[in-house]
Amino acid sequence: MYTQEDQRRLYDLSKKLSSDDNLPQNSASALQLGEILRYHEWRYYVQDDPQISDYEYDLLFKKLEAIENKFPELIVPDSPTQRVGSDISEAFKTVKHLIPMLSLENSYNAEDLIDFDKSVKKLADFPEDAQVEYVVEPKFDGGTIVLVYENDNLVRASTRGNGTIGEDMTHNAKVMHSIPLKAAFSGRGITRVELRGEALIKKDTFDKINKKREAEGLQLFANPRNAATGGLRTKDAKDSAARGIEAFVYQMGFAETKDGSNALLKFKNHHEIIEYLGELGFKIPQNNIETKVCKNISEVIDFCNAWQEKRDIYDYEIDGMVVKVNDLQTQYACGSTSHHPRWAVAFKFKAKQATTQLLSVDFQVGKIGTITPVAKLQPVQLAGVTVSSVSLHNEDFINSKDIRIGDFVLVERSGDVIPYIVKVLPELRKGSEIPIRFPKFCPFDATMTNVLVREEGEAAYRCLNCICGRQDFQKYVYHASKDAMDIEGLSKATIERFVQAGWIHSFADFYRLDYEKISKLEGFGKRSAENLKEAIEKARKNSIQRVLNSLSIHHLGRRASKLIAAEVDYVLDLQYYDVEKLTAIKEIGPVLAQNIVDYFSDEKNITLLRDMESCGVNMYATEEDKKAAVSTTGSLLGKTILFTGALMQFTRESAEKLAAENGATIVSGVSKNLNILVVGEKAGSKLVKAQAIKTIQILSEQEFVELMKDWE
Ligand code: IVH
Repeated sequence: MYTQEDQRRLYDLSKKLSSDDNLPQNSASALQLGEILRYHEWRYYVQDDPQISDYEYDLLFKKLEAIENKFPELIVPDSPTQRVGSDISEAFKTVKHLIPMLSLENSYNAEDLIDFDKSVKKLADFPEDAQVEYVVEPKFDGGTIVLVYENDNLVRASTRGNGTIGEDMTHNAKVMHSIPLKAAFSGRGITRVELRGEALIKKDTFDKINKKREAEGLQLFANPRNAATGGLRTKDAKDSAARGIEAFVYQMGFAETKDGSNALLKFKNHHEIIEYLGELGFKIPQNNIETKVCKNISEVIDFCNAWQEKRDIYDYEIDGMVVKVNDLQTQYACGSTSHHPRWAVAFKFKAKQATTQLLSVDFQVGKIGTITPVAKLQPVQLAGVTVSSVSLHNEDFINSKDIRIGDFVLVERSGDVIPYIVKVLPELRKGSEIPIRFPKFCPFDATMTNVLVREEGEAAYRCLNCICGRQDFQKYVYHASKDAMDIEGLSKATIERFVQAGWIHSFADFYRLDYEKISKLEGFGKRSAENLKEAIEKARKNSIQRVLNSLSIHHLGRRASKLIAAEVDYVLDLQYYDVEKLTAIKEIGPVLAQNIVDYFSDEKNITLLRDMESCGVNMYATEEDKKAAVSTTGSLLGKTILFTGALMQFTRESAEKLAAENGATIVSGVSKNLNILVVGEKAGSKLVKAQAIKTIQILSEQEFVELMKDWE
């Protein structure tokens, strides 16, 4: 339907129009907006592969609405604003809802919520300083269901359809155990009632279903929402039942008594209605955890923000929160537009994914010579922060995703996880994209003679014989960092200046800086030179676990340094340790032991340590070193480990190699003998199996990375 060229043009146009704050309010803009909105609807609904976030779509939609509101003569019949949201197809019997189900207006931040609160007070004729009570609930991301009960029996279930007419799906609702077939509404004199709710599939149930479909050779569902909405509309209730759909209820839209009067008037507020539905056996969000009655809008804002952080660990997909005026009389006073109630608003979470262009690739050199490719991106907003670069990890990662310079990429950042590239959008390629070539030589070596090597089984290229000084520089930065000697005020930029000034040629030089000279540097002054002197004075007295960690010995990280410091009295005694003696120390494996032996057999290193010692750096175990009661959790030595799902920061081989280097044994299946399961994206049956065995420790990829950091 859309050629690759069309898609590129429409994507470029979307980005241009969404960031243009001075868009002309004319027919040309309206036509362009209409065209791109239709394109993105096709991507979303037909291709099931959205190219822009819901946020960007809403932004474009609102721009079109604004033009059409000002110049109604520009409204064309096929304008996206004229479409009533509908999921009706020919295949199902249609039913008319007892009262129309409206949509919700969206809000995106605290200011929007404050505006909403102001408008509620205005509509309800409350003073400006009044405190309105709200109920905040999750905005479930599934399929809407509308349930009708007559004389306590479920008589009909339907989809939302276009809001007025929905599709009958009673046969499917009857197999969902969370929807009571009978509910005692008559206890309160209610004879007919219409409830609204959401049909959802738990995230882990979804994984199980897809795994099963994979084994059966069926097409996989894209996400839990698609699986749920599709499940509502299967012809055969058995197919629907197999998806484990659950239904939450969140609104009583209509209720009447025997004599036809409005039974909603029996209730004072929304919260009371939901609790009542819970008592009747419906599934409702948990009070004070998933839903909360808030005294005022500032409590609402806090609750929404807290959930924005927690959304990833929730069992169900949610894309925001819904804020509703609690008191029903106040709701009536606010009323509705033809599109949405004025007493409710959706608070949409910030998009976790966005598309942007990959502009260039930098190759960074780490402290032990590892070359890491880092992509520079056209800056983009992701879950509230601007992201302008992202690690490409290594050559295998780049090849497996076929990432090229100039490509548009989908980037994701969820929770505290570092941003990563989910995929490339090949349909947006112009043909001018450039494959990423790994450098053959150290990128900082002007002579271009220092060949990088990728050792057998390693994921990374390394520069083993640094001549450009870059590795030393990274070692200096690490030496002063928080995890190592923790020298406050010695930032990367300051170290760079000191190195350029010719003051730093080894770690020892940090401890004989000339503070007179420093105080004369531009931007420094007496005060900061004094502060630096104090910080370095403090660092001289550090425990030897910090000293050991600060040396950048391969694999000797925080944790191993701590273990060794608990055993050794004097750093230079390590000259007399062989592999056997080192591996006798709890948790120290043979690879690390060999690295330590190599380091302490090198005369240069011994000279350096003696030099540091002569500058006053402590080399004797302190009380802190001796009392280091190292907990054994987190150690991989002697443990069995298995990786499952797609890892974002490693290839499978490099993750396994790293684990093996740290003493773990890689196994191939889940059994009682498995100690640790590391789960990546779209983990399936292995995760489910492991969850059933209580002794297995389940780690996310990020937790595994954190654990490894201690060892690096
Ligand atoms: S209240 C009059 N509450 O959001 C508005 N809707 O357009 C009645 N949704 O597709 C909706 N969670 O299915 C309400 N806690 C919640 C909701 C919720 C999800 C969905 C609903 C509809 C859309 C609103």
